[in-house]
Amino acid sequence: MDITERIPQFDEPVDRTAISSMKWNVADSELPMWVADMDFQTAPCITEALKKRVANGTFGYTDIPDEWSTAIANWWKTRYGMDVDPTHITFTTGVIPAISSLVRSLTNVAEKVVIQPPVYNIFTNSIVNNGRRVLNNPLIYSNGEYSIDFDDLENKLSDPLARLMIVCNPHNPSGNVWSRDDLARIGELCAKYDVTVISDEIHCDVIRPGLTHTPFAAASETNRRISVTCSSPSKAFNVAGLQSAYFFCDDAGLRARAVRGVNTDEVAEPNDFAVFSTIAAYEHSADWLDQLCQVAQRNKDYANRVIGERCAELLHMVPSDSTYLAWIDCSGLLDRVGDATAERFCDYLREHTGLILSYGGIYGENGVRFLRMNLGTRADLVIDGLNRLATGANDYVRNDR
Ligand SMILES: Cc1ncc(COP(=O)(O)O)c(C=O)c1O
Repeated sequence: MDITERIPQFDEPVDRTAISSMKWNVADSELPMWVADMDFQTAPCITEALKKRVANGTFGYTDIPDEWSTAIANWWKTRYGMDVDPTHITFTTGVIPAISSLVRSLTNVAEKVVIQPPVYNIFTNSIVNNGRRVLNNPLIYSNGEYSIDFDDLENKLSDPLARLMIVCNPHNPSGNVWSRDDLARIGELCAKYDVTVISDEIHCDVIRPGLTHTPFAAASETNRRISVTCSSPSKAFNVAGLQSAYFFCDDAGLRARAVRGVNTDEVAEPNDFAVFSTIAAYEHSADWLDQLCQVAQRNKDYANRVIGERCAELLHMVPSDSTYLAWIDCSGLLDRVGDATAERFCDYLREHTGLILSYGGIYGENGVRFLRMNLGTRADLVIDGLNRLATGANDYVRNDR
């Protein structure tokens, strides 16, 4: 699909400035393309379900209906071919509240948790803020693409204090979709060293049309036994503000500790909006999601084309099969001006073009030469953003000479 092909539901203007949006709290001339939420209205069935719930006018305590867990189990079966027992699913108020709680319930203070930077920065907070230690297994970046350094991973997992690994599947910020083989190999190594896995699959639903996501727990029997899977409709259906997430886990012992943990931490209490939006998303919004995936791909293809045409020697967009995020290698530009990191360029973009991106260094040491750009927005803003980026990159290099 070309950027000139417009889809009304995704390409019409939506004003987010008057709703206290974290992303859109900016000056008039600025264009925020950083935090990972989208500018699209959510699926109509979700809005309808929320309106219906609001119309009732009573907002007392909530029990989670069976329909909630059945909707989630059906979703994983239909979309990813994976059997999830509905009784094994636990509600949480967010993926990060769940991960922080799991870090507390599955490890002891000063033990170590393996992550694969550059990776979603809040993983580090969940580990460090709980007095645990980070063990980095940096991804290999070669020929403009990412892969896993399995020798280093085995080395890290063999540390007797390594108790947990957080896998980001698919990977944020790179958008990498891990293969079944990669996932099974991670599981095998973790089992060998008795390390439990949390698989964060919050980005799994936004995927290149034609491809399918492989859940970590579906890659092998071992993976299923040693892992807890966390996910949420929040990224794909743009409902992050409703604080709705869940995890599931097959192993009874592991599940008991995880469920006990989120209850002790008080992050397992549902609110009505979270419950009913999840049911509406998973039961009635698959077609909307399929269209969203087309739009995300259209926007990424356009970004790749513009970068290739206007600043190929300065920037490289890492190819990816998931997310609406572009992970942009700025090495060409940095080498030209002698900058060690992309931070100054990121600041320059905001100051001189109004474009607000995320600086890659927040995702780890090996992200310092990258910027992340959120393309989950309508076509005319994608075009505007890419124009600001390409103009900014060329001006930055010219002005520095
Ligand atoms: C990989 C990953 N996990 C978790 C989250 C946040 O999840 P939640 O808002 O449900 O805590 C994000 C948000 O960007 C993310 O990218």
